[in-house]
Amino acid sequence: MSLLIKNGHIITASDDYSADIYIEGSQIHTIGKNLELPADEIIDAGGHIVFPGGVDPHVHLDMPFMGTFSSDDYSSGTLAALHGGTTTVVDFILQTQGKSLHDALKDWRNRSDGNCFGDYSFHMAVTDFNENTQKEIVQMIEDEGITSFKTFMAYKGALMIDDGQMVGLMKEVKERGGMVTVHATNGDMIDSLVAKHREEGKLSPLYHYLSQPEITEAEASGRFCDMADYTGVPGYIVHLTCEGALNATRRAGKRNQKVFVETCIQYLILDASLYEKDFEGAKWVMSPPLRQKKDQEALWAGLNQGLVQVVGTDHCPFRWEQKLMGKDDFSKIPNGHPAIEHRMELLYSEGVNKGRISANKFVEVTSTNPARIFGMHPKKGCIAAGSDADLVIFDPNEEHAISVDTHHMNVDYSAYEGWPVKGKCKHVILRGRHAIDNGKVNIEKGFGQFIKRTKASKVI
Ligand code: URP
Ligand code: ZN
Ligand code: ZN
Repeated sequence: MSLLIKNGHIITASDDYSADIYIEGSQIHTIGKNLELPADEIIDAGGHIVFPGGVDPHVHLDMPFMGTFSSDDYSSGTLAALHGGTTTVVDFILQTQGKSLHDALKDWRNRSDGNCFGDYSFHMAVTDFNENTQKEIVQMIEDEGITSFKTFMAYKGALMIDDGQMVGLMKEVKERGGMVTVHATNGDMIDSLVAKHREEGKLSPLYHYLSQPEITEAEASGRFCDMADYTGVPGYIVHLTCEGALNATRRAGKRNQKVFVETCIQYLILDASLYEKDFEGAKWVMSPPLRQKKDQEALWAGLNQGLVQVVGTDHCPFRWEQKLMGKDDFSKIPNGHPAIEHRMELLYSEGVNKGRISANKFVEVTSTNPARIFGMHPKKGCIAAGSDADLVIFDPNEEHAISVDTHHMNVDYSAYEGWPVKGKCKHVILRGRHAIDNGKVNIEKGFGQFIKRTKASKVI
């Protein structure tokens, strides 16, 4: 199969030019002006921009969490991602405390393999670091292509590890060439605030927010950076939300550490006033919670200064009946919100079209940087001969509004209902297949491939 994309305006993390793209099979073959090559299909991209397919490095599909499962499975989640221009996602395997990493891998593969529309990979969350787990790290990296290890400094009793385990894991991962990623919030501080609010009968979603003040994230982010410095391991802070936490990472920069920072689309554009809507605020109960306008400003600036390298989603959707589990107690509301489909369009609309970031920065933080940091570049994250033909043909001017009535995620509300968006993904190409054509799906479940990743010591 061959595909020729004519007259597009190509935008990458570094370039901005007009050219045609010729795709043979699953890869980009030639990029050039006025290509006259015979092709099975020709797409006229005139008036549109063409950028690399998005890489969302932070999603939770079909994940057991807080007594339920996130409501998008690998099929609905990766398809919704494709509709929104994200061609590759990196999901999280969670080790069960007391069990092995291999047990968890098997479990996750049973749910994901053969069910994805888009390409996918895994981070491994280590929730129980011990001498057996230690032996599995090298196997995950060398045999399975799982090169990043997620840690939680919160969710005590389920996912959290203590600092002794953290340092042990970091040393092993450093030795084996991998990376340690972190949910950096101070679990003990948060748990004591949750207990205090519950005792006082303060049970609405607002108290989820008030139980996780900025200091809980700033402190843990700084502590993570210090432990990464001590052990020399490359680190990555997921879903960083606030000015205080961002400031804590500056020290790591001064020490020339390899610590990368991800924020998520919601922290750039939504704020904590949404928790004042009584139980409707449950739609935005996530951890860390939404913050203040001053934090949004710090994050936008952080993107432009290169302090924040990635914008993900932390897509962890729950249907309304699942959110109702916490109707009488905020601490029982499953944490997470749906966004996998909207990251690219929202960031383009709010970032590029509103003049906050350049189009090159948009590509850098949604595709090229996550692909590089997590060892998928240049297969993913760029437009170059020999790279996977993962492309988005995008109308930067089309105006539309986000709604539960039109989204493809398995959630019965939208966290962005009515949000006006300027810019739309018209065509999405995945490994040379015209996967989405103006909303029409042309690939089948199972087309998505598992991506084995290169280890951090070779790429960053
Ligand atoms: O609220 C969130 N973020 N839910 C998903 C789990 C996590 O902490 O990333
Ligand atoms: Zn988290
Ligand atoms: Zn997450």
